[in-house]
Amino acid sequence: MKVLLVAGARPNFMKIAPLYREALAMRSINCMLVHTGQHYDYEMSQAFFDDLQIPKPHYFLGAGSGSHAVQTAKIMTSFEEVCLKERPRIAVVVGDVNSTLACSITAKKLLIDVAHVEAGLRSGDMSMPEEINRIVTDSISDYLFVTEKSGIENLRNEGKSEDSIFFAGNVMIDTLYFQLRRLKDGAVPVGIPKPDRPYAVVTLHRPSNVDNREKLRELLLALVKISEDMPVIFPIHPRTSKNIEEFGFTELIRRSDISLIAPLSYMPFLMLWKDAALVLTDSGGLQEETTALGIPCFTIRENTERPVTITEGTNILVGTDHDGIMAAYGRFTKGEIKGGRVPELWDGKAAQRIMKVLGER
Ligand code: UD1
Repeated sequence: MKVLLVAGARPNFMKIAPLYREALAMRSINCMLVHTGQHYDYEMSQAFFDDLQIPKPHYFLGAGSGSHAVQTAKIMTSFEEVCLKERPRIAVVVGDVNSTLACSITAKKLLIDVAHVEAGLRSGDMSMPEEINRIVTDSISDYLFVTEKSGIENLRNEGKSEDSIFFAGNVMIDTLYFQLRRLKDGAVPVGIPKPDRPYAVVTLHRPSNVDNREKLRELLLALVKISEDMPVIFPIHPRTSKNIEEFGFTELIRRSDISLIAPLSYMPFLMLWKDAALVLTDSGGLQEETTALGIPCFTIRENTERPVTITEGTNILVGTDHDGIMAAYGRFTKGEIKGGRVPELWDGKAAQRIMKVLGER
């Protein structure tokens, strides 16, 4: 059975790695990799393929940046050609980026079954492009692979049939455990320079946090304050980097103990955040990864589509205001550190479960 496995943006690459590895080991599945090219900088794309040992994709669509409509349209047009040529039985899409949406719609209209890995997550915030991508993708998917129980509830509430929903676990955590084992076995020769005292790691890239001058200033001021206590290391997304320069915040950061560094690929970033005293982020995946390793995480957002990281994990929603972040940080410095446990089925075997389901069709 032919399967197209699609990835396009940075947070997709760690999700397809274990799926592709599993598929390769199965006789019943002929899996081809499609990279839409939504992310294209070396640090945002190829570095992940190298680090995660994902082979060169069978197709690279070169979609690149643009408005949401332009980007989505470009991906749809080129992915349609691939589908028409390859005639797969199933298209597997992961996560919630524009590539996920574009390829699921394209496949479904060609009567190709769609499997969505990381289905059912809902933030309830329709101003997030990812929320629209999730809802539309789930609404047309034939196989809904869910990472946490809230996802099952959400899909039931939206009327999805029970036999399309599979509680599979979290492929991102498969990659995390797999790569941690490689680190432990000494398979990764290079280390990365880290402070020899407690430090914080920050990632920020959501348009709602970084595209508005005043909002970004407020968040940076909170980080500057935290950096008075401990070094803050901030691998920076191209969007955020552009805005910091454009809004004139370079000097503010230069005067503080915040180190802005280029975006890191998977392994160097893992080496950095796994030993952090605190992670502050607006990313989706990092909320889950910190929960899996028990690292305190402040999520700089008003909501999360990953509630299990709050109810069971180490994640705290601190909002996007300076005072909210500082209040949570004040509690943290007093030793009020939230403990957590690893959510059900985040055991490194999600890809195995998913490919078993698909292989039996
Ligand atoms: C995308 C995802 C988001 C994910 C994020 C992780 C959508 C809707 N959003 O957002 O869910 O958390 O990736 O990184 O799909 N750029 C580069 N080089 C690149 C890629 C982008 O310089 O390789 C710059 C471009 O100026 C581009 C901007 O970053 O316009 C934004 O890229 P885009 O792919 O549109 O969305 P992200 O903000 O990266």
